[in-house]
Amino acid sequence: MSKIIIAIDGYSSCGKSTVAKALAAHLGYAYVDSGSMYRCVTLYALRKGVIKDHSFIEDEIIKLLPEINLRFEFNPHTKSSDTFLNEENVEKDIRQMVVSENVSKVSAIHQVRVKMIAIQRELGKNKGIVVDGRDIGTNVFPQAELKLFMTADTDIRTQRRYDELNSKGQHIPFIDVKKNLLDRDFQDTHRKENPMVQAKDAIVLDNSELSREEQLQYILKLIKDLTLSVD
Ligand code: DC
Repeated sequence: MSKIIIAIDGYSSCGKSTVAKALAAHLGYAYVDSGSMYRCVTLYALRKGVIKDHSFIEDEIIKLLPEINLRFEFNPHTKSSDTFLNEENVEKDIRQMVVSENVSKVSAIHQVRVKMIAIQRELGKNKGIVVDGRDIGTNVFPQAELKLFMTADTDIRTQRRYDELNSKGQHIPFIDVKKNLLDRDFQDTHRKENPMVQAKDAIVLDNSELSREEQLQYILKLIKDLTLSVD
């Protein structure tokens, strides 16, 4: 019996984590949200006052890295894993708009990526894992048995993110949410190191018109059609 690695990459707010969580729960796999790690570094730098008015000195962020410990813990209420930064559950704080506004620039720093990728590879060493992000199928786990590249219409992505923020009490205008998504997509696809590109062997999933259940069923069928053993 062999477990596999499932890599899910794609644009901001196109539902990667939702489908990754459902898939992990269905298969009994671990789920790792790699974006949450870059968000933790950004949150820590904001709290330390290293990021001010959307700008920072790279070396000051690099100096913080040894102080940052990350781990994930399964939350039975949400049936997903929460992100812990130095033993504090920051699952809610890392989703704040101010973190989203700075995270792409922080994630472009070489040393930040080296540290986060090492953690991701360690988490995936025994396989049986679903990981979502931007460079998972191309760089972190190029050997992943199943690679998906997710995309969705920009306005649909914006609406999903807008609703999510609203439900958490963050009332950000639609236009600002859309701008943040487009800015991040641009930065994430144009950075020098590990930019987001579709892996040659990735299967594209445009979920603009698909429900969660339809996406899950689509991926389960792929696993079956590709005769991948997931046990
Ligand atoms: O998935 P997310 O939107 O929470 O990710 C936040 C940011 O982290 C994203 O804008 C780019 C960065 N990121 C990355 O550079 N590499 C990854 N594997 C995952 C996220």
